[in-house]
Amino acid sequence: MSLLNKINSTQKKFLSELSSATDDSSKLNDLYNKYLGRKGLVSDLFSDLSTVESKDKPMVGQKINLLRNSIQKSFDQFNLTKNKTNNSSDIDFTLPGNHFFEGNIHPITKVLNDISDIFKSIGFSVFSGNEIEDEFYNFEALNIPKHHPARDMQDTYYLNNEKLLRTHTSASQIHFMENNTPPVKIISPGRVYRNEDISVRSYCLFHQIEGLYVDTNVSFSDLKGVMEYFSKQYFGQDVKVRFRPSYFPFTEPSAEMDIYWGLESESDYRITKGTGWLEILGCGMVDPEVFKAVKYDSSVTGYAFGIGIERIAMLKYGITDIRLLYEGDIRFLRQF
Ligand code: DAH
Repeated sequence: MSLLNKINSTQKKFLSELSSATDDSSKLNDLYNKYLGRKGLVSDLFSDLSTVESKDKPMVGQKINLLRNSIQKSFDQFNLTKNKTNNSSDIDFTLPGNHFFEGNIHPITKVLNDISDIFKSIGFSVFSGNEIEDEFYNFEALNIPKHHPARDMQDTYYLNNEKLLRTHTSASQIHFMENNTPPVKIISPGRVYRNEDISVRSYCLFHQIEGLYVDTNVSFSDLKGVMEYFSKQYFGQDVKVRFRPSYFPFTEPSAEMDIYWGLESESDYRITKGTGWLEILGCGMVDPEVFKAVKYDSSVTGYAFGIGIERIAMLKYGITDIRLLYEGDIRFLRQF
């Protein structure tokens, strides 16, 4: 077939293909690329020009040009041009728009931020500790010596003989006091790890906010006052709280604080084990052994507390399975 025949048949083929593509913009797009694209049929024709005798070249070249222009014109009718400009008149407001998904804050981050803001507003500053610790910071300096039964309460992930993943944010207390003299007024939010069976209620990692206040003449009633203030700010003025005596090696005396959740529904019974009360934090007066470990003068006193974040997030947002918080399922996360 001579090149002239090829030009003619390309034109015919284009016209018949165009007629079956006009109602479908993606077909039109494909057609555009097929004929006018960089490696399209028209550009093939131009390449074939090299096979034409030189005296015929101008004539044949002009035919290809004409074909190209007429094809381009056909596409222009459909607003399909190569360098499509965003002319506002091109916009068809009746077409469905593109849906952009907005990112949002993870519920755990939200609870961490909201609680941190409450403590910041009463003069606590934020100190970030380390997730990788050693036994000194995670246990010994907190008055949990080797073979102490409290080590069993916190099944630990060891990275090697020396390093471990912190089991609580209390380790941050030691780092901060080692490097700062009293008065100390900090919170330390972050992730902690425990080798626990994964279930609806427990996971191998979770979050805490540690608090530490050290000065002269700090008393247990200061601690109670601050914990009550925090509870009212976070859960509302009507929240009821209670303190129960407890035990932690690094505080003496120690307490746990519960908030009254209520006993209205069957799930209230389940989550509060029939008492209506829910434990949300541990606290106490810093044990003198801890001050000794960080070489603080024995005249200082202080309180500390550790708030569990997951439980609060689950209560606040009605989440019944803790695992949902870590699976990154977009259908879950979009609800917040
Ligand atoms: N570290 C404790 C835990 O993970 C929580 C805790 C209790 C922190 C009492 C404290 C405290 O600072 O005083 O179970």
